[in-house]
Amino acid sequence: EKDGHDWFMRKEIFEQPRAVADSLLGRRGVDGRLQLDEMRLSDQELRDITKIIIIACGTSFYAGMVAKYAIEHWCRIPVEVELASEFRYRDPILDYSTLVVAISQSGETADTLQAIRHARTQRSKVLAICNTNGSTIPRESDAVIYTHAGPEIGVASTKGFLTQLVACYLLALYLAQVKGTRFGDEIDQVLGQLEAMPEQIEKVLALAPDVYALAREHVQSRSVLFLGRHAGYPVALEGALKLKELAYLHAEGFAAGELKHGPIALVEEGLPVLCVVPPRGRDQLHDKMLSGIQEVRARGARTLCLAEEGDEQVAPYADELIRLPRVPVLLQPLVAVVPLQLFACELATALGYDVDQPRNLAKSVTVE
Ligand code: M6R
Repeated sequence: EKDGHDWFMRKEIFEQPRAVADSLLGRRGVDGRLQLDEMRLSDQELRDITKIIIIACGTSFYAGMVAKYAIEHWCRIPVEVELASEFRYRDPILDYSTLVVAISQSGETADTLQAIRHARTQRSKVLAICNTNGSTIPRESDAVIYTHAGPEIGVASTKGFLTQLVACYLLALYLAQVKGTRFGDEIDQVLGQLEAMPEQIEKVLALAPDVYALAREHVQSRSVLFLGRHAGYPVALEGALKLKELAYLHAEGFAAGELKHGPIALVEEGLPVLCVVPPRGRDQLHDKMLSGIQEVRARGARTLCLAEEGDEQVAPYADELIRLPRVPVLLQPLVAVVPLQLFACELATALGYDVDQPRNLAKSVTVE
């Protein structure tokens, strides 16, 4: 049942190319335009939206952070991302022109469910992104985008996360199509890039032996930091969460630009710092990230860098370098998170922990 793998988690990591492909299946109409059959909100209802609030917990929250970057960039609609457990208790401003997007792999997370119930009492429309057909959250939502990861058994979310990202990109592109904020050609181009992702993820999975070796070198580590910027920032947070959950290690993710505002004080000789390097582009993201890497390295950190193929600038500052396929910055989380999943899985295995059933955790958190 684990297809020859030691853990469900490992099996699920390797299923990600298929899960991503399945979550993209049937999304184009005969005219090639994007269609979402469980959308159930009319084009007019979608055009009337002036604000989006994404609510979720844990890994799903990090998918929501990526969604914010994508939706604001492609659709120019303001997006807030909020932890479901905080949302209901702060008297959020909601009305009929606010779309609430609930992201939940299980569809049963109590915090998220209570949050959407509250949103509906305020006349907001609720759209669920969910992996579990017929679960409570989609049943209580106005519209659903189902992900097609298949059952996720490992407590640590992996293929659930990647397919949530896919659903978030599809939602962003769909809104851009309906609102006309992007030309059809551009939407088509991004859809094409998404459709090429399973192949790109396969390339990253082929690097598993290198990532495993790196993970095993770090069994003695007491603490690991993760740095990212832009869409790589939620990836850093997710990498840290995986390591906490599975290896019971102190792990923290930071936005690289925040280093000098405090976290750099944590850096000491030999501290492993995993750096998600943005693709080289017209913006300054890549160079800013490089200077962050230089700063931690100058203070003795051991820099483990994930950077795109052909990025030679990073090499002199990387103690270890894992190569990612070249993809646009907004889509980079789909490839960048995979080595971090493999890293946490292998490190926890090397420490002798139960990867599929980490202590104190449940797969679906049905109490608030
Ligand atoms: O089923 P959900 O997506 O609503 O679950 C949310 C979190 O409980 C979940 O992502 C949790 O953080 C995972 N254990 C992360 O690996």
